[in-house]
Amino acid sequence: MKNMHVAVCVTGGIAAYKAVIFIRKLIKANAEVKVIMTEEAATFVTPLTFKTISRNQVYYENSQQQGIVEHVELAKWTDIAVIIPATANTIGKLANGIADNFATTCLIAMNCPKFIVPAMNDKMYDNQAVQRNLKQLIEDGYHMLEPDTGFLAEGYDGKGRMPEPDTIFKWVSDIIANKQDLKGKRVVVTAGHTIEAIDPVRYITNHSSGKMGFAVARNAVQRGADVTLISGPSHLINDTGARLIAIRTTAQMYEAVKERYSDADIVIMSAAVADYHVIQPAKQKIKKTGKRLTLELEKNIDILKKLGQEKKAQKLVGFAAETQNLLENGQQKLINKNLDLLVANDVSRSDIGFGSDENEVIFMRPSKENINSPKTNKDDIAKMIFDLITED
Ligand code: PMT
Repeated sequence: MKNMHVAVCVTGGIAAYKAVIFIRKLIKANAEVKVIMTEEAATFVTPLTFKTISRNQVYYENSQQQGIVEHVELAKWTDIAVIIPATANTIGKLANGIADNFATTCLIAMNCPKFIVPAMNDKMYDNQAVQRNLKQLIEDGYHMLEPDTGFLAEGYDGKGRMPEPDTIFKWVSDIIANKQDLKGKRVVVTAGHTIEAIDPVRYITNHSSGKMGFAVARNAVQRGADVTLISGPSHLINDTGARLIAIRTTAQMYEAVKERYSDADIVIMSAAVADYHVIQPAKQKIKKTGKRLTLELEKNIDILKKLGQEKKAQKLVGFAAETQNLLENGQQKLINKNLDLLVANDVSRSDIGFGSDENEVIFMRPSKENINSPKTNKDDIAKMIFDLITED
């Protein structure tokens, strides 16, 4: 945090008082802090409190120091912005590009990492529009810290309470402490499963949850990359900070990857791609008339193999999901698909691979010794992938 320029944007919620403690922590960590307040925030805590604690000018509606393009100057000055607490109102404005006060005008002008800490009543937090807006902000690249469940200002327990300043400080510090060795790099990550229709209600797919791919995308964002996450249908919330492209079929995944391949520096294919599609999916639901049903399948394009054939300066990482002969099959995929790194995992195990929070893999590279990872969480595996791919 030393010498980092942090803009703390305080909006009008009861948790605004906790922002004072958060700012103290930033100051103790030698950051330089400027506070921006909405008019409503100033009804909870006075600008003078923030001025005293931040040892800097405070920006709020009609404050004296605002020049004509003050919001642009402040945006240029800022290294990171933290919105704490973020009300449903401000979340809605930011998600929709509305800049109708000094705070939102500044935030929209800022092209830096932004951290948002929603805090509100549990019913408001659960509201569909609020959830939709938060999802949008995450997709736009905001880092979001989920509210805690606990005692709310309304006098009962619920989800919406702002986490303690210590937690918020650690969350922000951990993200920015990551080495920024991917800054300026474009990274494309695939995640989850693709699906192939049998009829309007049935499809072929596999067990991939998307956890591995999301972890890869999250690590790339933390290291400063511009990340596109191309994912099949997943229950996961995109908290990675990456731009999400949602696809369903293998053909759609191929189109999405192909479009970005020539500009990409690193492509990581962690998705479990359906290898076959039904040649002619039925237009109507197939009735259960016969004892047997035969589907005619045709091979899908092998996206990774195609990327390997067309590779120029990109670094190409593939996975191998195997139930037997892990080393042998992994080695073959490494060579046949012209990869820089192959991550082999045994998907016959229930404690790693599909759906689990942990994985245990073998990293394979051309003309280098294989490396066995310990069994560890998927965020650690993701970190190891980027450590290896940026090694030479
Ligand atoms: O999503 P999780 O639940 O966290 O599970 C993680 C995982 C088990 C899905 C992941 O770790 C993994 O192994 N991903 C690769 C799954 C897979 O499709 O493996 P494969 O051995 O069948 O394919 C080899 C490589 O070719 C993969 O990088 C795959 O993305 C790619 N491929 C495969 C088929 C195809 N038609 N096109 C491809 O690009």
